[in-house]
Parts: sequence; structure tokens; C-alpha cells
Amino acid sequence: MLLAIESSCDESAACVLDRSVLLKPNSHPSRAVLANVISSQVKLHEKYGGVVPELAAREHLSNLPLLVEEALAQAGIGFKDLTALAVTQGPGLNACLLIGISIAKSLAYSLRIPLLPINHMEGHLYATRFADSSEKFSYPALILLASGGHTEIVLLKDFRDYQIVARTQDDAVGEAFDKSAGLLGLAYPGGPALAKLATEGNPASFKLPIGVLDKDDAFSFSGLKTAVSRQVKALGQTLNQGSTRADLAASIEDALVSALIRKMQKAVLKYRPKCLALSGGVAANTVLRRRLQELAEKHKLSFFLPPTAYCTDNAAMIALVAAQVLEKESADFSRWEFAQSQQSFFAPAVSADFTAQPRFPVETISAASLRPS
Ligand code: KG4
Ligand code: ZN
Repeated sequence: MLLAIESSCDESAACVLDRSVLLKPNSHPSRAVLANVISSQVKLHEKYGGVVPELAAREHLSNLPLLVEEALAQAGIGFKDLTALAVTQGPGLNACLLIGISIAKSLAYSLRIPLLPINHMEGHLYATRFADSSEKFSYPALILLASGGHTEIVLLKDFRDYQIVARTQDDAVGEAFDKSAGLLGLAYPGGPALAKLATEGNPASFKLPIGVLDKDDAFSFSGLKTAVSRQVKALGQTLNQGSTRADLAASIEDALVSALIRKMQKAVLKYRPKCLALSGGVAANTVLRRRLQELAEKHKLSFFLPPTAYCTDNAAMIALVAAQVLEKESADFSRWEFAQSQQSFFAPAVSADFTAQPRFPVETISAASLRPS
């Protein structure tokens, strides 16, 4: 029984995962999730138009102990039944990460069970395994992570062998949705509202820059914000006439989604993956989902799209990565025995004094730590 804690940004989350279910052949990963609880702070930060780190950290401190207890209750187990812990180490907001890590370390010391620090983005990569699909997930997999904080295309050659195919060099795509929505007068976070408005508009109405740089390995979305701002000024009062606002929303959505799809298409041709997947908060966007699904069908690739609850920040994705690490590391008992003899509550590959890593590029995680030294 593994307990995972997530607190990298504005969602506090806890998950209990039963590893024995994962080890059963042909068992879907979501069946191993006994509890997956989350407390979102979106309302708290709304009036500031963005996440305030100190406020978020304070919320994590009051939410997490309750969430952990709730997760255990939902799973029908007690603290004594836990055999391992996992926590998000980064990337994220330092003050927020530290709260989750402190709670996880306290639990590890008091329960005398191992704790694994996990990369949040690696969590998002494997959240795609929760997709409601009977197709087999296989490497190499090409995954688009599109959220309010990140935009990257990652090639998974194997577990812990990741290559960044493209990454934004300025705004994240969710941020671009939110900022454009703000310019249209929609409340923060405006992405979903903009997408809703866009369903009534014509995406061909306005010509806006598509954030695809000449470089294959980079997106850029900051230019769109400037173009939208100019367009809104030029339209003046006419923005409120007829379907103009909806047309502009649809054109913005089309420009953003097209940038993602074009680069995914190029990457499919270059890397010939076996499957495609989508994760992150922007995965809730129906136009993006549809166009990526079409791309997968065109190239006869399996497509993994997790339910929204697994696309946005959650602790189940952290638990799933930790379970894979445990499976690989447990195979090497001598290292576990050594760690235990040193009275270490951390996995053999983990330094006991690990702390938050606010900057933690996913490609820097290596499989080396899993191999016997
Ligand atoms: O992963 P996520 O929950 O959190 C962070 O990255 O912090 O992603 C949230 C982002 C926000 O920018 C939100 O506006 C965007 O995802 N988003 C959407 C839609 N739903 C959420 N963007 C476009 N269309 C949507 N339907
Ligand atoms: Zn996230």
C-alpha cells in the first residue's frame, strides 16, 4: 500500500495505491487506485489573477493532513497498513513543495517505511496510463504535456529514458489561453471559458500568429498575446457586436491548438512512436483532443487520453511513477538491505537529505539510479 502526496502548485492531493493490483497481468492501472482525493485552491487565488505561493503553501499545510486521513479512510486502511510513501519533489513552487515533503518525511520517519521523491512532470507523463483504453501502452511513446505551467512534447524511449522534443520558450499554452481570455474580458483562469465561447465562433475569422518557431524544438506563445491585445484595441466597441467576440475566441483557440498539432505531427514523422498521449490541464480542450485523436488515427497509433481528473494535478500519477520505481528497485534486494542497515527510510537511490527541487527538467531523471551500482 503506497501513499502519495502532491503539493507542487495550487492543488493539495493524496492517493492510496495498491501495488499488488498493478502487478496482476492485464490489470488496468486505475483499478489499483483505492483513493484519489484533491482540494483545489482555484477560488482562493481567483481574485489575484494567479497563484500566490505563500497563500498556497498555507493552504497545503491545513489541507494535506486532512486529505491524507481522508484517503486512508476511503481506501479502508490505517497508517500501519502503509508500506511505502511518495511525494512530489519538483518542479513547482518551493514553499508549496516543502510542505508536502515535510509531511511525507515525518510520516516516513514515524512509520519507518521508505519514501520516494518523484518528479511532477514524470507524473503527468504516466497519468496517461489512466486513460480508459484497452490498448497496450508501449515505448517509444510521444506525449504532449499541455498545462498552465508547462508545454512540452516528450519522447519516452523507455521508463526513465526521456527526450524533450519541443518545449515552450516563453508562455505555457494554458497561460496563453488564460491571458487571451483575460483580454476578452473573461475571468481567471479563462481557458475553459474561452473554449466555451469559441464553440459559437468561426476559427477562420481572424489571422493570428501560430506559435511554431522555425526551430523544431521550441514553441512560443507570447506573440499571440500581443496580437490579441492589438486586435482587441483595434476592434474597440465592435468586439461586442454580433459574433465578433466568439469569432476571436475561436481564432485564438485555433492558433494555439494548431501550434501543438503541427509540432506533434512533425515529431510523429521524425520519431515514429508506437503511441500518442495527451496530459495536463489543457487536455480538457475538446478541439485539441479531437485533433490529436485524428492525428493518431491517421498514423494508426494508439492514443491515450486520461479522464480530466488525471490530466490536472493529482497524486495518483505520483503514486504510479513511484510504484514503477519500487518494482524495479525491489528487484535488487541487496541495495534495499543495505539501505535498511543504514537505518534509511529512503529508497536506495535516494539521498536522505533530499529537498524540494523547484526546477527539475524531466529529461534529467535518469534510469541510472535504478541500476545496481
Ligand atoms: O494542469 P493544470 O490544471 O494546472 C497548471 O498547470 O497549473 O492546467 C490548468 C490550465 C489553465 O491554464 C486552464 O485555463 C487550462 O488548463 N484549461 C483549458 C481548458 N481547461 C483548462 N484551456 C483550454 N481549454 C480548456 N477547455
Ligand atoms: Zn501539473
